[in-house]
Amino acid sequence: MARGCPFDPPTDLTRLRDTDPITRVSLWDGSTPWLITRHADVRAVLADRRFSADTGRPGYPAVSASTLARRRTAPSFIGMDDPDHARLRRMLIGEFTVRRIGTLRPRVERVVTDLLDTMAAGPNPTDLVEAFALPVPSMVICEMLGVPYADHDYFQEHSRALLDTRTDPAEAVRRTEELRDYLAALVAARESEPADDLLGHLTERYVLTGALSRTEAASMALLLLVAGHETTANMIGLGTLTLLRHPAAAAQVRDGEPALVNAAVEELLRLLTVTHTGRRRVATEDVEIDGVTIRAGEGVIAAGDTANRDPAEFAHPDELDLHRESNHHVAFGFGIHQCLGQPLARLELQVAYPALLRRLPTLRVAAPLEEIAFRDEMAVYGVHALPVAW
Ligand code: HEM
Repeated sequence: MARGCPFDPPTDLTRLRDTDPITRVSLWDGSTPWLITRHADVRAVLADRRFSADTGRPGYPAVSASTLARRRTAPSFIGMDDPDHARLRRMLIGEFTVRRIGTLRPRVERVVTDLLDTMAAGPNPTDLVEAFALPVPSMVICEMLGVPYADHDYFQEHSRALLDTRTDPAEAVRRTEELRDYLAALVAARESEPADDLLGHLTERYVLTGALSRTEAASMALLLLVAGHETTANMIGLGTLTLLRHPAAAAQVRDGEPALVNAAVEELLRLLTVTHTGRRRVATEDVEIDGVTIRAGEGVIAAGDTANRDPAEFAHPDELDLHRESNHHVAFGFGIHQCLGQPLARLELQVAYPALLRRLPTLRVAAPLEEIAFRDEMAVYGVHALPVAW
């Protein structure tokens, strides 16, 4: 659907939320799942176990032909229901607690500072996505997992292709298999040589005890690798562009107390909702949502972007307001599949925005808005590149 403004959800989606909040839509494959656009209804669907996240169930609304084709290649718990989902997610919970992630702060600050030093000494203007937005989360997740960052060109190219809704299905399957095998080799290496990283912990606690196969561990790592850098990278890129268009807010993020920076991060997450293809589910029995009956086997798309702009939940929803009293956005989803990596994403954003604005206080966008390429065709929204000068 077309966006009127690149910072807002598609105009037709917003209109539907106001006129027809639970309605059928037509997808690329001719299927007609329900589209849910209001905040309360989106949360109701995501909290309801009668909606399945199993991507293999008939009726599950696939984002594209390539996601449909590769869903069996490296199945991960984001596309499973309990008890399998809970069993696998539990293996990672200890790695992502707020306390555990908090211990990474000095390391994240070091990564950010080093990248900004390199950027400041390099060409001006430059592309912020390549110089900063992508390498921050990519370096952090590589280090956390124990994936050599030196291979980043290889897996970033693969992950870009996997997130591109236009990728040929056979190619998507091939790239998924390649990445999974690459990660399985890293797990195999840890079977004989333990390592104090996430892959090492998974191997020692679950692969060597027989609770997880090497391929399952690799599929889990694949989910973390892709989910762990594209989402945050696009929040850094699109979030910086948004801040640069709101100088007063940018000044507050640059000079503000940590509490204000944290509020700004939540507000950017809400406003930009980069996971713009919606949370997808399929009903396992007949369910009534706000007076509409969704039958067993029918697909549902819960649109986080329109939910996060719902005037029934947020005052002046289209404005960037760093001083909201409450901000119950669904940018990280809701319910049992709510983002596992959110403490890490928050930490990276809370460190990256103010550090960037402090280190380069004259930072500005070095191209007219019409020349900036937005990622409408990608599963994660944002900007492909962001020319900046300082
Ligand atoms: C700003 C950055 C991020 C955003 C906006 C985001 C968004 C989301 C959303 C909306 C979901 C829910 C999916 C659903 O309900 O179907 C999700 C799930 C997930 N995210 Fe994130 N994410 C971000 C960063 C991360 C990071 C840094 C990691 C890990 C390193 C991560 C790992 C995961 C995992 C493993 C799941 C699946 C959880 C489950 O199914 O139980 N995410 N994320």
